[in-house]
Amino acid sequence: MRVLGIETSCDETGVAIYCTREGLLAHAVHSQVALHARYGGVVPELASRDHVRKLAPMINGVLADAGLDRRQLDGVAYTRGPGLVGALLVGAGVARSLAWGLDIPALGVHHMEAHLLAPMLEARKPAYPFVALLVSGGHTMLVLVAGLGRYRLLGQSVDDAAGEAFDKTAKLLQLPYPGGPALERLARDGDPTRFRFPRPMTDRPGLDLSFSGLKTYTRNTVLREGDDAAADIARAFQDAVVDTLAIKCRRALEQTGVKGLVVSGGVGANRALRERLGEVAAQAGAETYYPRFELCTDNGAMVAHAGALRLEAGEQSGPAFDVVARWPL
Ligand code: KG4
Ligand code: ZN
Repeated sequence: MRVLGIETSCDETGVAIYCTREGLLAHAVHSQVALHARYGGVVPELASRDHVRKLAPMINGVLADAGLDRRQLDGVAYTRGPGLVGALLVGAGVARSLAWGLDIPALGVHHMEAHLLAPMLEARKPAYPFVALLVSGGHTMLVLVAGLGRYRLLGQSVDDAAGEAFDKTAKLLQLPYPGGPALERLARDGDPTRFRFPRPMTDRPGLDLSFSGLKTYTRNTVLREGDDAAADIARAFQDAVVDTLAIKCRRALEQTGVKGLVVSGGVGANRALRERLGEVAAQAGAETYYPRFELCTDNGAMVAHAGALRLEAGEQSGPAFDVVARWPL
């Protein structure tokens, strides 16, 4: 089954074709980072308009890359939510219209499920059951994945997502948007011994997380120390986030006894986090699984993949262009 996947939940236009027999056939991502940079964050209306401009040419592009005619598609999957409603509607509208014209099924996919299953796009894939750490700009959660659609939420952030904390801290340090990658680069020059930031909620049991206090702690440190300390502050902040996530992942592996740890979502691109989680997994006799860097952040391949698995299982959604800003996993 060859499925076209469309991702438009936020500021990346992602398009891909996934085949249930042959794997990923083609994928393309257009990042709107330059468009939103001067506003210091995503402007929803501008995001929607840019998705409108980019989608059709990108679909033609991936079809050409895969050497396919659109009549050779067997289904279309799109991100139904969670995300920016206007942006989601663009993807849903294009996906449903295309599917209607081609008389093939269309399916709305959960953005976080798509992230969660993204490591399965790689040659070295995790086997069920596994623990997934989803760390993006909008979500931070630990999920026990027993199979397709069989998810148990183990814990999540009670306030800011880890990526959001990276972005806000980066802004405090006057780094360009998006903050995560810029903060990681700055942290490389930082002295790890100068400051020690708190590891929120690690001193009590459970797998929930919190990052808003850390953000406040960072702000106070910036105000006290001034700009000269930026690299050291970036380092202390990143160390605190990485350490906190590592402690919770270790706990999740211990509690569930599973031997696979999947890491997905934009913050999963952070090298310091990857290194630490590798150590944590090794200590627990488990292995870590990541999507390749470009599939860690938002992309169409993960949507095509999750949609293909569900379409192949016979699932379909009704004809309405239904999208949802919030949608529990
Ligand atoms: O999954 P994603 O592309 O979008 C959603 O939020 O769904 O994640 C984007 C988030 C942003 O907050 C960005 O700053 C963060 O991932 N991020 C990083 C890194 N690369 C992206 N955070 C820390 N280190 C990175 N290298
Ligand atoms: Zn995402």
